[in-house]
Amino acid sequence: MKKKVYSKKYLEKLRILKKNKELKEKIKKDPVIFSKFLLNFDPHEAQQQIMRDTHKFITVVAGRKFGKTKCMAAYALFYALTNPKHRILVVAPSYSQASIMFREMYNFIRRSIINKYVSKILKTPFPQIYFKNDAEIHARSTQNPDLLRGEEANLIIMDEAAYIKDDVVTNVLEPMLLVTNGRWIKISTPAGHNHFYDTFLKGLSEEFPEYSSYHFTSTANPYVSEDFIELKKKELGENSIAFRTEYLAEFVEDHNAVFRWSDIQKNVADIELIDGAEHISRSYVIGVDLAKYQDYTVICVLDATEKPYRLVHFERFNRRPYAEVIERVKDLHRRFNGAKVLIDSTGVGDPILEELQASIGAEGYVFTSKSKVQLIQKLQAVMENGEIKYPYIEPLVKELQFFEYQLTRTGVKMEARQGMHDDCVIALALAVWAAEQYSGSAGGEIYLGYSFL
Ligand SMILES: Nc1ncnc2c1ncn2[C@@H]1O[C@H](COP(=O)(O)OP(=O)(O)O)[C@@H](O)[C@H]1O
Ligand SMILES: [Mg+2]
Repeated sequence: MKKKVYSKKYLEKLRILKKNKELKEKIKKDPVIFSKFLLNFDPHEAQQQIMRDTHKFITVVAGRKFGKTKCMAAYALFYALTNPKHRILVVAPSYSQASIMFREMYNFIRRSIINKYVSKILKTPFPQIYFKNDAEIHARSTQNPDLLRGEEANLIIMDEAAYIKDDVVTNVLEPMLLVTNGRWIKISTPAGHNHFYDTFLKGLSEEFPEYSSYHFTSTANPYVSEDFIELKKKELGENSIAFRTEYLAEFVEDHNAVFRWSDIQKNVADIELIDGAEHISRSYVIGVDLAKYQDYTVICVLDATEKPYRLVHFERFNRRPYAEVIERVKDLHRRFNGAKVLIDSTGVGDPILEELQASIGAEGYVFTSKSKVQLIQKLQAVMENGEIKYPYIEPLVKELQFFEYQLTRTGVKMEARQGMHDDCVIALALAVWAAEQYSGSAGGEIYLGYSFL
């Protein structure tokens, strides 16, 4: 553990604590008082309600920035210190999300005298905290459920629970609690009508006394500035599905979604992203959506050797000079066995595309409202059929979730909802389009007048 960094305010609290026996007792019973005095963290009203709830199964639907991760980190520490020998599992849909939770816990410990009660902290093979009372906290991702199978836990905290797949919850996580008769807490922004929605409803119904549920908007966190929420409201549109889902935390039925939530989820797989070809025999394709004005350049590399295609490399960046973007694509083309590259094109004078056509034989996919629909429908079909796998990459999953149909006078339009990006979706769709051409199973729509073979 690094040098202690106690603040003045914190030391003052410890002084009060030393003299007050009654307070000491309260700290052991109440996670809120524990957090205030020992972690120097003052949970806001809504966080207090959740932390003090002792139901067996708790579902918390809350908007972005509510303070979900932070209050669960504090609660996990309270639970560990007050439950000797208990095993706490903190899970999230991705490694990066699980490590955010771990970092919150780690920072709490580092700045608190509770580090006296910690015996060791391991970062590999996955984050673990061991306490002197033999309690343990393990932070894990649910990306590879096989690595979790067979473990036991007394408490499971699921951060961004709505993004964890239903079958992982039922077949892997819930069984861990059987022997221990343990508890779980799910906390998340909403996403679709899945396990998270089901248990949320259970918690509202009197028929299920072991369940409890909460619903909070982002503004329940007094530390989130009103300006920020106003800005998001403007960007996304007050009545938009994105704003209502992400900040008002409503379970909005999305009739205009292009990709069904169940399709988005079923194709999430435990794939380790790589920087170059795994083997000379593998065939790769690269889809590139170039940044136009404000948005991002996204590059998706698919292993298209066989179906299901696998997303093995992903990049998303903005504000880079042309020359750098060109070098990046050339480099990936080289490192992935001379992969075919398909780039979005307006059809006229694209300097990046022209350069990449000349140097590495990249192709352009000309966007018209019709060709865009065809491109997206291809991705849709491949996803429905389970013919593509990708790791849980947050911007990609969110963009797929909020990609929508719009009926216009002249037909159907498909695009990101107001205020959202669609670069990840387009890059992935371009890669899939290229993969379909490359493997000779293309749908026959001839837009480009080229053949990959
Ligand atoms: N009780 C609190 N006091 C002060 N800041 C808080 C509190 N709860 C959350 N925050 C801050 O609010 C922001 C969002 O918290 P976070 O836990 O990441 O939210 P979420 O997981 O819901 O998106 C972070 O900057 C966090 O430090
Ligand atoms: Mg969070």
